[in-house]
Amino acid sequence: MDKPAGTDKRSLISQRADALSPSGIRRFFDLLASMEGVISLGVGEPDYTTPWHIREAAIYSLEKGYTMYTSNLGMPQLRQALATDLKARYGLEYDPDTELLITVGVSEALDLAMRAVINPGDEVIIPDPSYVSYNSCVILAGGLPVMVPTNEQGGFEIDAADIAARLTDKTRAIMLGYPANPTGAVMPRRKLEPIAELAASRNLLLISDEIYARLVYGVEHTCLATLPGMQKRTILLGGFSKAYSMTGWRVGYAAADAEIIAAMTKIHQYTIMCAPTMGQVAAIEALQDGEDSVREMVEDYNRRRLVMVKGLCDIGLDCFEPKGAFYTFPSIRSTSLTSEEFAEKLLVEEKVAVVPGSAFGECGEGYVRCCYATSLAEIEEALERIRRFVSRCK
Ligand SMILES: Cc1ncc(COP(=O)(O)O)c(C=O)c1O
Repeated sequence: MDKPAGTDKRSLISQRADALSPSGIRRFFDLLASMEGVISLGVGEPDYTTPWHIREAAIYSLEKGYTMYTSNLGMPQLRQALATDLKARYGLEYDPDTELLITVGVSEALDLAMRAVINPGDEVIIPDPSYVSYNSCVILAGGLPVMVPTNEQGGFEIDAADIAARLTDKTRAIMLGYPANPTGAVMPRRKLEPIAELAASRNLLLISDEIYARLVYGVEHTCLATLPGMQKRTILLGGFSKAYSMTGWRVGYAAADAEIIAAMTKIHQYTIMCAPTMGQVAAIEALQDGEDSVREMVEDYNRRRLVMVKGLCDIGLDCFEPKGAFYTFPSIRSTSLTSEEFAEKLLVEEKVAVVPGSAFGECGEGYVRCCYATSLAEIEEALERIRRFVSRCK
């Protein structure tokens, strides 16, 4: 295509957009979309339809004509229900009028948090590997991601000493996302404590993506904001997509100090206006009456998790036992393939989609992410196909 007149000396794309690498996950989904008979362990999405009572609440709201914008902050009833939920689960008090913001998923909340607190050139600490958006949101906000390696021997937990070694005068925030995508790692409280102390002593903000908080198996999730003195310096992000199986409704939230929420709300008001009204109504129902559904889904994920981990280990792919989220992160080093080669060949030869670990950072090389939010029958068939594939590689 011809470039518009007068643009020949200048790129059409901004430097910030240009600096983003295309998501390593997207490419696989595009390839997958063109194939038939594929079992997908690729997408990080629950396989359940949103529980009926939640859908019904949203349908009823449409019948009643709730089709307008809501307050920029989100519906007051939802913010109140969220404040009640955070108090009940963590003992944390947030003022629903000034300290909570309803967003278009955690995705928007992440972007707003970065843009609200980062100045050009500020550095943000991020565990490697981690969810693909952390790095990109920092870059889009004009900041510099500083990756801190984690590894399987250390349970993919981030270490305070490794963070300390990378702090500079420009470090502004530490971005954590536990339970973690892609590894399924959960940070125990004792490992979070020294990180909180570091943040306090160096006056750093903590941005904590706790979207998988409800999906833990046999261990406790520690909310970062509950550590002494941390509520003030933590931007807590959470959502409805995973625990309530509500990915398409696009609702999430940020809970933080009023000054930070006010700054995030300014950006939100100019770019988004408000989260979808129907989704917000559904989220109220989820918070008020969704406990049984969450419990049932978590029990089911746990059964699938155990089958997946055992199956992968039996095949000879070393698999760290994930205690949270719905991902396994087996090592594929024994096949001598890179994680991209493994994922691509497995897809083409055996029609199983997994995501190369390298999509989540350099430390993800040598691993692939397998999501077990799919039926047991599909997991078993996928394991059989992976077994065939791996036996050919060895
Ligand atoms: C760690 C993590 N954070 C955030 C998101 C985005 O969630 P939402 O649907 O709330 O935008 C995802 C989605 O996969 C995720 O895995």
